[in-house]
Amino acid sequence: MDINNATLTRVAIVGLGNVGATFAYALLLSGLAAEIVLIDANRAKAEGEAMDLNHAVPFTHPTNVWAGDYSDCAGAVVTVLAAGAPQTPGETRLHLINKNAAIWRSIVPEVARHNPHGILLIATNPVDVLTYATLKLSALPPQSVIGSGTILDTARFRYLLSQHFGVDARSVHAYIIGEHGDSEVPVWSSANIAGMRLREFHKMQGMHYDAPVVGKIFAQTRDAAYHIIERKGATYYAVAAGLMRITQAILRNQRTVLSVSSLITDYYGIDDVCFSLPTVIDRGGVEQVLRLELDSQELGNLRRSAEILKQTIRSLNL
Ligand SMILES: NC(=O)c1ccc[n+]([C@@H]2O[C@H](COP(=O)([O-])OP(=O)(O)OC[C@H]3O[C@@H](n4cnc5c(N)ncnc54)[C@H](O)[C@@H]3O)[C@@H](O)[C@H]2O)c1
Repeated sequence: MDINNATLTRVAIVGLGNVGATFAYALLLSGLAAEIVLIDANRAKAEGEAMDLNHAVPFTHPTNVWAGDYSDCAGAVVTVLAAGAPQTPGETRLHLINKNAAIWRSIVPEVARHNPHGILLIATNPVDVLTYATLKLSALPPQSVIGSGTILDTARFRYLLSQHFGVDARSVHAYIIGEHGDSEVPVWSSANIAGMRLREFHKMQGMHYDAPVVGKIFAQTRDAAYHIIERKGATYYAVAAGLMRITQAILRNQRTVLSVSSLITDYYGIDDVCFSLPTVIDRGGVEQVLRLELDSQELGNLRRSAEILKQTIRSLNL
């Protein structure tokens, strides 16, 4: 192999605020990317982050980090979009759409023009609506457009369940699907620990199954961002770790099942909307959206979530 012509693994990040900068730091520590491009409307912010990150290189991995522009997205395997206004205390994610849709119309065509073959990974809220908007504004194939979706909510749910049941969060298998937001849906019907339904697990541990307590775990999951934003103004560590997990699955072609947002076609008759379902992620992006079986209540709630998202999508006139 001619090492001078070898392709270096490039990841671009647009938006170097709390989320983008935390992701950049996690990516640098991981050593997965040889090149990290930082793009922000506030050029000085991107430059400052690049300087600070480069000074960590002697402690981490040989990596080239620089503040660039959209032409530097060329050849990036993954471009993470984390630009835009964040939630303020009490503000819903869907309320952000007016501010962030305008930003999207300027960013997405630029990234796609310079990098028509890369994968776009969206973090900005409302993430499902912006994932759909990305598809329309970029004209990229659906497998190349992924929203972080409920990867974070699923992590919060697994963590809170793990605390309740006293087992490692990684041993709890439970998904949050639908919108990353107020209408998200917990899939209790298939939630399990070691293949045991949660009721059975309660019984085996001699624990009383207390439906209100278990229900509260979902409410804490759904409302976690509001509680964190009230306290520290923003959330970024866990979402950055989720973005890292998706990026790793792509760069290493891992075929990992993750709850992420992508174009949904004919799932229980639900069509033409982006939301999260467990999805196989590989080097090509969305390899397969898994058609999880739901009970009737879950399905009803998911249909409601899809309708809420579609209403917001329609308001954009894409
Ligand atoms: N998907 C999730 O799970 C999740 C979790 C947390 C936050 N978020 C979302 O991520 C987004 C970013 O949050 P944050 O806390 O990092 O915000 P932030 O305000 O700290 O950073 C936003 C950055 O975007 C930049 N920016 C704004 N307009 C731009 C443009 N047109 N081009 C390039 N850069 C531009 C700003 O200069 C700023 O650096 C928000 O929408 C927030 O709601 C998503």
